Amino acid sequence: MDTRETWASRLGFILAAVGSAVGLGNVWRFPYVTAANGGAVFLVVYLIAAVAIGLPAMLAEFAVGRRARRNVIDAFDEIGYPTWGVIGLLGLATGFWILSYYSVVGGWVIRYVFASATGGYFGDPNAYFQGIAAGPAAVGFHALFLGLTVGIVALGVEDGIELATKVMVPAILVVLVGLAVWGVTLSGAGDGLSYFLSPDIDVFANDYATIVPAAVGQAFFSLSLGMGVMITYASYLGRDDDLAVDGGLIVVLNSAVGILAGLVAFPLLFSQNVEPGSAGAGAIFVSLATAFASLPAGRLVGVVFFGVVLVAALSSAISLLEVVVSYAVDRYAVGRLRTAVAVGVLVFALGLPSATSLETLTLFDRVASNVWLPLGATLVVAFVGWVYGQAAVDELQQGAGRLGGLGPAWLWLVRVVVLATLVGILLLGVADILAVYADIELLG
Ligand code: PFF
Repeated sequence: MDTRETWASRLGFILAAVGSAVGLGNVWRFPYVTAANGGAVFLVVYLIAAVAIGLPAMLAEFAVGRRARRNVIDAFDEIGYPTWGVIGLLGLATGFWILSYYSVVGGWVIRYVFASATGGYFGDPNAYFQGIAAGPAAVGFHALFLGLTVGIVALGVEDGIELATKVMVPAILVVLVGLAVWGVTLSGAGDGLSYFLSPDIDVFANDYATIVPAAVGQAFFSLSLGMGVMITYASYLGRDDDLAVDGGLIVVLNSAVGILAGLVAFPLLFSQNVEPGSAGAGAIFVSLATAFASLPAGRLVGVVFFGVVLVAALSSAISLLEVVVSYAVDRYAVGRLRTAVAVGVLVFALGLPSATSLETLTLFDRVASNVWLPLGATLVVAFVGWVYGQAAVDELQQGAGRLGGLGPAWLWLVRVVVLATLVGILLLGVADILAVYADIELLG
């Protein structure tokens, strides 16, 4: 175990974690969930959820990962609580689950980079999306996206993930800032900005019961919480950094990318008279493609935009795969390359239903964010708050500066507020999925 890999630098760890957090969740999911939940009001609740619920939960994962320096399953054994290893087992299963459809959407993005260059979707963006979203072509691009993900993970923690995300994350930030500056200067952008940035309190009063769970669920999906990514990434820390500061930076950067994506999407949509609430998994592809098709430099903007989305999607997909690969490498001492390829093949097969049916893909996404991630997060938070307790505070205080004094307050926040919120979200999420099944039954 002495030979276990570590990050080369603290920045490398932070960028890898930001790379995991920033992904299709920010650019594909966030704008359409925002549009489906009242616009600016949703943004406010999402930001509060990220800081008040997401950040404390992230620190809980960090504490376990850095203390144990093991993969998601063995970590619990290592710190003396082997039965809680079921959390890790659930994490591995959730990793397979999410990556299977995430990679299908990643495949669409690759397709859109090419289609932007050739103007492929310019004639009829809606028909174009329907044509590529499911079927043999979607299966092929799903395989291509997975192949890229496997390649990076096979290169290892330092030479693969750390190097890749060090280039990817700054590139994402620079391009999105550029696009946002351009977007807000388009004529008609003002309506988009006020839709995204001026909350209407009446909307909240009417719909808080759906807005709050959606915002908390989005915060967890977006911050990659609830399946052990942050346990795994913290396990490669060789030294005692200030984890509270690192976590804060990750939350701020992830939120910034979500806001930037909104500043690109909403002004663009409003300036082209595209209805932002036209929801569904294809929303952002159809509506942004419509906008790009009618812009003077549409091809260039399209290539740059979808290129950045692709980079963001890859840096998240590698974290999903790494959770599984890390376990196999630690436990069975098998090579990274062989493991990554083997897992890739299994994930490819699991993704076939999503690559051939858009409804299946949407259902997979809904089950992941409403059930699997909140369930995993609830278990981690319950364990760290009530079982591991003071030991977690001690771990976080290693390397912490003045923030270390907040340890006990953090513990109570985790024990009560974070845990109660997650249990509530989980119950609502399960009810939501059961309602979806009931609908399917009624229709069938
Ligand atoms: N956070 C990623 C995104 O926003 O696209 C998705 C994700 C990655 C979710 C890893 C969960 C996870 F464990």
